[in-house]
Amino acid sequence: MNHPAFAGNTAIEAPAWVKHRKLIDWVQRVAAQTKPARVVWCDGSQEEYDRLCAQMVEAGTMKKLNPAKRPNSYLACSDPSDVARVEDRTFICSQRREDAGPTNNWIAPAEMRSTLNGLFEGSMSGRTMYVVPFSMGPLGSPIAHIGVELSDSPYVATNMRIMTRMGRKVYDVLGEDGEFVPCVHSVGAPLATGQQDVPWPCNDTKYIVHFPETREIWSYGSGYGGNALLGKKCFALRIASTMGRDEGWLAEHMLILGVTSPEGRKHHVAAAFPSACGKTNFAMLIPPEGMNGWQISTIGDDIAWIKPGKDGRLYAINPEAGYFGVAPGTSEKTNFNAMATLKENVIFTNVALTDDGDVWWEGMTDEPPAHLIDWQGQDWTPASAKESGRKAAHPNARFTAPAAQCPSIDADWENPAGVPLDAFIFGGRRSTTVPLVTEARNWTEGVYMAATMGSETTAAAAGKQGVVRRDPFAMLPFCGYNMSDYFDHWLNTGERLQQLGAKLPRIFCVNWFRKGADGKFAWPGFGENMRVLRWMVGRIEGTARGDEHAFGVSPRYEDIDWSGLDFTQQQFDEVISVDDAAWREELALHAELFDTLQQGLPEALERTRTTLESRLAA
Ligand code: OXD
Ligand code: MN
Repeated sequence: MNHPAFAGNTAIEAPAWVKHRKLIDWVQRVAAQTKPARVVWCDGSQEEYDRLCAQMVEAGTMKKLNPAKRPNSYLACSDPSDVARVEDRTFICSQRREDAGPTNNWIAPAEMRSTLNGLFEGSMSGRTMYVVPFSMGPLGSPIAHIGVELSDSPYVATNMRIMTRMGRKVYDVLGEDGEFVPCVHSVGAPLATGQQDVPWPCNDTKYIVHFPETREIWSYGSGYGGNALLGKKCFALRIASTMGRDEGWLAEHMLILGVTSPEGRKHHVAAAFPSACGKTNFAMLIPPEGMNGWQISTIGDDIAWIKPGKDGRLYAINPEAGYFGVAPGTSEKTNFNAMATLKENVIFTNVALTDDGDVWWEGMTDEPPAHLIDWQGQDWTPASAKESGRKAAHPNARFTAPAAQCPSIDADWENPAGVPLDAFIFGGRRSTTVPLVTEARNWTEGVYMAATMGSETTAAAAGKQGVVRRDPFAMLPFCGYNMSDYFDHWLNTGERLQQLGAKLPRIFCVNWFRKGADGKFAWPGFGENMRVLRWMVGRIEGTARGDEHAFGVSPRYEDIDWSGLDFTQQQFDEVISVDDAAWREELALHAELFDTLQQGLPEALERTRTTLESRLAA
């Protein structure tokens, strides 16, 4: 008899509601290879979610938080070595190396398959394999696509229920022969008979592998979000970007928001920022004092799938159903809506535990609690932190929360047709050089701006923090094919839509992170970014003015609505100025980037670079 914890559909044979022969055969093949002790066909029910969480509490993987403080919520703490995406272990295994391009790790598919065959052989021994069917995007939307993840991690199964539309209803859309992206995930920690499990199993050997031609994902050795929740970065960005290239659409690392004017006019904006640059904050922005009547509504906070509609406009959906956001720095002051979203039904990962069974992280409150259990299970006090420098929460600690709980959620966030885009915004974290906001003069210059984006690195990926790296379109770690071909795809998309006479979204480049001579941020950011959005809306509607400079059009002091904020012309100059010497260096760095991307780089980009150089010289 099954242990009650494994009640449900626990057999290699599929339950009656799965009618897809190819899917069933694939599950059986993977089970034969990975040899799990049992197979659970997830139905996505609340009962199943509660059961898996209870099972993880019993295993020590999660703690149930105090229901009076944080109803139906849990804290999971990972192995200290498994806390971020592992970009150096992430592979794009296209048939031809050139198709992965110089910015992706590539290994020939046959060689990789042989490595994976060795790793996955018996990798799920003693564990349960969960069959997790999911839709990226509203079920049945023409912009949505389906995936099925086989995983030996109940943490993955439960997080996927929050992050995607997961469960039985996906099989109704899939029918007997619908298309799905097969995703296989193992923490790579087989259990011998009688062996005691650890709370967070993982393996020092890690492989996050994509086969773009066969649209498959194989992930080994990590239980952490971006490496293990395969619907997110692996499918919705790396595999989907190649689908978009082949089928004429875009899969982007972008939040989507609606901005409504006091008169009730609504526009939609998609914005790309590298990881941990405040995408979630921007997507949930609350307009500041003085900008009464303006309203921001949230459609997505991380990923946008964008397809041309019949009218030639670009329509975007958020393929996700939840937020996997960075916790540290999130507070009622920085992101009131996120804090409200986190009131219940949340899985927290690597934050600290308070003495009354709630969670805390750096930046959540001005004063830290007097005592905590930190993310590594150690006692933590403000005094001990001062002495050792130990953080209570890991800098890349996360929350997984249902999108529907967000107070600013847009009425159209599940509209299967998506929302029409009026603007793209590209932003990086740059302490110098890049102005607060610049509008591109045309699509090609906008693509150039996005292609040459740079940003200082953060804790979202393993590796050194704070160094500037080029991060074209904020897609460097997420593009499933050759970056130069990706630029080409963007240029062609614009050209194709323009030929149809369609209205293309405007393109803006922003930088919220400029610092003054004192080393402090010179722009207040957060809600005040609404002032920049308002200027953009004015540009879209043809009412706002600006000054043209070498790189595009930026607002003058008088073009920004300052009501409610004391911000002087001098302060504004500090965030908007273009320093010619710094830009000459910047353009030289763009040339370096183009050198590394040389093969297949669209000629239009190098041409734009030389034009900018001569404009600067003039
Ligand atoms: C994320 C990331 O988790 O970009 O969204 O790292
Ligand atoms: Mn992201």
